Amino acid sequence: MIPAFLFLTLALYALTGSARVLGHRNSLVARAGSLTEITDFGSNPTNVGMYIYVPINLASSPGIIVAIHYCTGTGLEYYNYSPYATLAEEYGFIVIYPSSPYEGSCWDVSSEATLTHNGGGNSNSIANMVTWTINQYSADSSKVFVTGTSSGAMMTNVMAATYPELFAAGTVYSGVSAGCFYSSTNQADAWNSSCALGDVITTPEHWASIAEAMDSGYTGTRPKMQIYHGSIDTTLYPQNYNETCKQWAGVFGYEYDAPQEIEANTPQADYQTTIWGDKLQGIFATGVGHTVPIHGDQDMEWFGFA
Ligand SMILES: *[C@@H]1O[C@H](CO)[C@@H](O)[C@H](O)[C@H]1NC(C)=O
Ligand SMILES: *[C@@H]1O[C@H](CO)[C@@H](O)[C@H](O)[C@H]1NC(C)=O
Repeated sequence: MIPAFLFLTLALYALTGSARVLGHRNSLVARAGSLTEITDFGSNPTNVGMYIYVPINLASSPGIIVAIHYCTGTGLEYYNYSPYATLAEEYGFIVIYPSSPYEGSCWDVSSEATLTHNGGGNSNSIANMVTWTINQYSADSSKVFVTGTSSGAMMTNVMAATYPELFAAGTVYSGVSAGCFYSSTNQADAWNSSCALGDVITTPEHWASIAEAMDSGYTGTRPKMQIYHGSIDTTLYPQNYNETCKQWAGVFGYEYDAPQEIEANTPQADYQTTIWGDKLQGIFATGVGHTVPIHGDQDMEWFGFA
């Protein structure tokens, strides 16, 4: 007869076995840490919400991932939707989930304020969350990363442009380039149809100047960027993939038209990875719409945790 404890262990293994095989991680500690709302992280003129996930297996001098939700989402929903809290238990980093203050819960990626370093917009609030977390948890300021989906992906590009000194790397899941959603009437949280439809097309040099103007005078290091987009995205048309890659190629001085390497079926079938250099990769997913699913294991590699 099988002893009760062994039976339980086997039963748990059977239940969680597939997750183990897919994720190589211990499901018994998945998300054993706590998700907490923080209300006093510093100046927050646009009233952005903040949730933080601190894993049980917190590393000493931990890294930080800022994970930014899509429209209609919340920080709490992105905590549930994305793999980062589970990965946090494996790698010991902290996750910050900002929460949009607007009805419809898109991000402000259109106003002058948010598109400016210390301009007092949403980007400023998210930057203040990062600073608060670094201080509170003695986090490693050289291991701070930003990622997001859709509107959160737009915000990822905006964070990389407005606060380049804060981040070591970013991953963008189906967004638009920084400044593409610009509002000519300086409206916060505006939808920009011409950008969404892929009609805003310009040169790498012009895109770079738009990104650089968001923190003008900055000459330090900038986060390396990884850009995912689906080929049949009809919310943010695939041209936005090309424009975003142009933008960062321009910023890093890579020749957009002459990438270093193109790898077919990487990281999976029908995904094509284009490498311009150490600081820029694009991943174009054929047959994928809005949005490209989060690739947690690839993110861990890009951020240097795995
Ligand atoms: C949309 O963004 C582009 C820049 O990407 C800008 O030229 C255009 O004026 C914006 N449209 C509106 C309605 O603000
Ligand atoms: C955009 O990028 C994709 C994937 O690399 C490429 O197949 C396509 O030709 C590019 N489009 C333009 C207009 O450059």
